[in-house]
Amino acid sequence: MDIFVIANQKGGVGKTTTTLNLGAAIAKKGKKVLLIDLDPQANLSSGLGFTQQFDKQSWDTDGKAPYKNIYNVLVNSTPIHSVFVTTSTPNLFLVPSHLSLAGAEIEMVNMLSRETLLKKALEDIKNEFDLVIIDCPPSLGLLTINALGASNKLLIPIQCEYFALEGLGQLINTMNLIKGINPTLVLGGVILTMYDSRTKLSSSVVEDVRHFFKESAFETVVPRNVRLSEAPSHGKTIFQYDSKSTGARAYNSLAREFIKKFL
Ligand SMILES: Nc1ncnc2c1ncn2[C@@H]1O[C@H](COP(=O)(O)OP(=O)(O)OP(=O)(O)O)[C@@H](O)[C@H]1O
Ligand SMILES: [Mg+2]
Repeated sequence: MDIFVIANQKGGVGKTTTTLNLGAAIAKKGKKVLLIDLDPQANLSSGLGFTQQFDKQSWDTDGKAPYKNIYNVLVNSTPIHSVFVTTSTPNLFLVPSHLSLAGAEIEMVNMLSRETLLKKALEDIKNEFDLVIIDCPPSLGLLTINALGASNKLLIPIQCEYFALEGLGQLINTMNLIKGINPTLVLGGVILTMYDSRTKLSSSVVEDVRHFFKESAFETVVPRNVRLSEAPSHGKTIFQYDSKSTGARAYNSLAREFIKKFL
């Protein structure tokens, strides 16, 4: 069972959008996919419509989650089996997150083997899925370290924007450091996101990334597409929201490439 981590400490580069829609596209092609939301912002969980079934007030006021989530897996050793949920896409499953995960990094600091808590937790579902994809928060903190420590392939989304390559050296360094505790981790690929064909800047970023990462960069480039940004507020994948959009076509094509490369 391959475990993929989608990471980039830069915020808003398309980590969550890619986890959600790449995961959904692969699930639609018949693979059993587990998505793990490892971000306290819980954007992946709400984007899949998961948090909508809970009364917002109850989870905003007392700070405690009304559902089991990745926090319980990491901090309370709750088995992943009792935490993952189905989604409205067949074959697509989710380990949800919750704002309370924000405190986990501090609580984990004094825990034994704090870098490998997620790796250990995933042994509970060994080979039960065709693949696992983990969505990280925008930092290189203990949560992202846990995701890197649990995975064998790192996928890096890069936004076709100013400073796109900034910080990537640090991410690659972190990946190499993690090999000390997780020798199986390698760079799986780089995914270009939010490409705008009207700007010169976008194409120059694509050129730079292809030059730097060579064949590690996926052929498919995800365009900037407003439908991709609208879909999560409806709790829908791009395929449920607008299957004919350029965003849906891009994530389908990315999934085809992905399956050919890895599965
Ligand atoms: N290809 C796209 N076209 C248009 N909007 C997009 C695209 N990809 C992502 N977005 C929007 O850009 C914003 C950032 O995307 P996303 O949440 O996926 O990034 P992220 O890297 O997960 O952010 P964070 O670092 O905060 O977790 C979101 O509002 C999302 O809807
Ligand atoms: Mg995100």
